[in-house]
Amino acid sequence: MVGSPPGQNNPNQEAVSVTPQPPPAQLRRRMLAWYDRGHRALPWRADPGVTPDPYRVWLSEIMLQQTTVATVIPYFEAFLVRWPSIAKLAGADLDEVLHAWQGLGYYARARNMHACACAVIRDHGGRFPDTEEALRRLPGIGAYTAAAIAAIAFGRRAAPVDGNIIRVLARLYALGEPLPGVRTRVQALAQALMPAGRPGDFAQALMDLGATVCTPRKPACGECPWRRACAANRDGTPEAYPVKARKSPRPTRRGVAFWAVRDDGAVLLRRRPETGLLGGMMEIPSTEWRQAPWLLPEARALAPVATRWRSLPGIVRHTFTHFHLELTVLSGRIADGDGLDGVWCPPGRLSDHALPTLMKKVARHAGAEFGITPPMIK
Ligand code: ADE
Repeated sequence: MVGSPPGQNNPNQEAVSVTPQPPPAQLRRRMLAWYDRGHRALPWRADPGVTPDPYRVWLSEIMLQQTTVATVIPYFEAFLVRWPSIAKLAGADLDEVLHAWQGLGYYARARNMHACACAVIRDHGGRFPDTEEALRRLPGIGAYTAAAIAAIAFGRRAAPVDGNIIRVLARLYALGEPLPGVRTRVQALAQALMPAGRPGDFAQALMDLGATVCTPRKPACGECPWRRACAANRDGTPEAYPVKARKSPRPTRRGVAFWAVRDDGAVLLRRRPETGLLGGMMEIPSTEWRQAPWLLPEARALAPVATRWRSLPGIVRHTFTHFHLELTVLSGRIADGDGLDGVWCPPGRLSDHALPTLMKKVARHAGAEFGITPPMIK
């Protein structure tokens, strides 16, 4: 622990040098001035002094959940052209919404988004509720999104805290507690820093700072409005924050994927269950992923269709947050794929489907055997 913000419960008080804490008013002023000098021009942001439309704010925040700003921009603009109001979106056919969502990741988010639009029309007379608590009760709106909407669209002193903001504040105060526990402390510090005036701009300034200046590696501390206040910058150790918990080794799970090819070359894809890892995304059908290695006869019995399954050489490896995965790929020819659970995708159209990275790896691995190569599998 390098320094300790006011009020932090620090058991090693004597061992710590006490660093003067910058006054919140000064921190707020500097951050807002930095934002005014050159914030990112994003299509969901209103001009200074203009209250943004809650529908636009909500739509952008839902799209930005686990997706980058660059990816979201064209989707946000296309959605607004097609469904310019919450009422239009609530009245849309869910399948059309899901189709327009393709490429933005988890479909559960799109389903919740549509359910939320319907709830706002049905239960709130078409107007979003304007408090964090009420927003949280709507489908698809968690703590971060509720705080972001409350601050940006309704001028509430709500503090959205995500990985970027944890990094910024962990550095500002040189918080020595490792992730994930430090989040609670950051939430309280962020809340204390939120200004009563312009909380939405302040929240978005922190988001911009985390995305463009206070980056995980090689932060541009020389450009930071808090460079003099920042304890980690003063110590020359910004990259040491947030402190990471020591990792326990990731276990390895194993599975078997089935590359089923119809006589016309089309490949079988199916949708994963809505809940669980890669929920609702398209996959090359696979067995359960488990620790014990699979015996081929055992895997073949779980294939989506009975045919002569042949094991392709090599293994597809992928690492998730909590485990490594090793997939063996079996390929098989199917004369008549009618009635199977899934869709048959012509090999040249694989990139039409929003395949998760793991499945792209499987497609590249198996595709190479069949002469299907990138850029068909983007
Ligand atoms: N990430 C999440 N919400 C955001 C916003 N409003 N602006 C920029 N990045 C964001």
